[in-house]
Amino acid sequence: MGQFMGRVAAAGYQHFMFGPDGPRFRELFWQAMASTRGGYDLLAPRFDATPFRTPDPILERVVQHLEAGPPVRAALDVCCGTGAALRHLRPLCDVVVGLDFSPGMLAEAAHRLEGTRGGRLELVRGDARAMPFGAGFDLATCFGAFGHITRPEQPAFLRGIRGVLRPGGRFIFVTADPPPPTRRSFWMAHGFNAAMRVRNRLFDPPFVMFYLNFTLTEALGRLVEAGFEPSVAPLGWPGRPELKLVTGHVPGP
Ligand SMILES: C[S@@+](CC[C@H](N)C(=O)[O-])C[C@H]1O[C@@H](n2cnc3c(N)ncnc32)[C@H](O)[C@@H]1O
Repeated sequence: MGQFMGRVAAAGYQHFMFGPDGPRFRELFWQAMASTRGGYDLLAPRFDATPFRTPDPILERVVQHLEAGPPVRAALDVCCGTGAALRHLRPLCDVVVGLDFSPGMLAEAAHRLEGTRGGRLELVRGDARAMPFGAGFDLATCFGAFGHITRPEQPAFLRGIRGVLRPGGRFIFVTADPPPPTRRSFWMAHGFNAAMRVRNRLFDPPFVMFYLNFTLTEALGRLVEAGFEPSVAPLGWPGRPELKLVTGHVPGP
């Protein structure tokens, strides 16, 4: 056994989960033991090598959808991380703002977006649960971050997003119905959530990350409560056929 573990370590299998550029096991451990923000600060340099970054084919389909709609002058990407969506939104807008509470993720975004084409780019450090902007955007987006917003926080989070949008503005994101209990992903998600609850009972500060938050039906109900008029369309990516593109419309001109 010892010999086997030695060979595994020597072969660099500590990377096996996410490839050679991804985080090692011990890095993931310390990330999970930090606060949500601190965890992302630690993960930031390797984040783009993980599956937690929203894949480009998803963002490309969102862009196709936006190109078919009204022009976007100012866009806000909420929980922008290392800038996956900002890179795609920038060419469509005069101004694009990325909001995130992790300075490490924002530093990576600044580095990775340097020299990309498009409108003016602003990266702002702030908490999406206490939105630091007034109503100045035509578009808000949020990708891969709903798991960090607990159910009790969702109404205020959405009211904040509603508050930064002008009349006629849109909040766009991607979600899906939860998988049925016959699927492995159902049990993996619930298992992960149970482990997170135990971790957060035992250790402080909590790391807030829960799968199956803000699934389709729940999201539509929350949008209506926050004053949006929702619409749903298939995202159209064969890689994840269950994904839906959801738009929360702000009533207006
Ligand atoms: C899984 S990453 C997704 C990043 C990016 N949107 C993407 O799709 O690749 C989640 C991001 O949300 C940020 N985040 C989580 N909770 C936040 C909050 N309350 N306010 C601002 N940013 C937050 C984290 O710092 C992290 O950068």
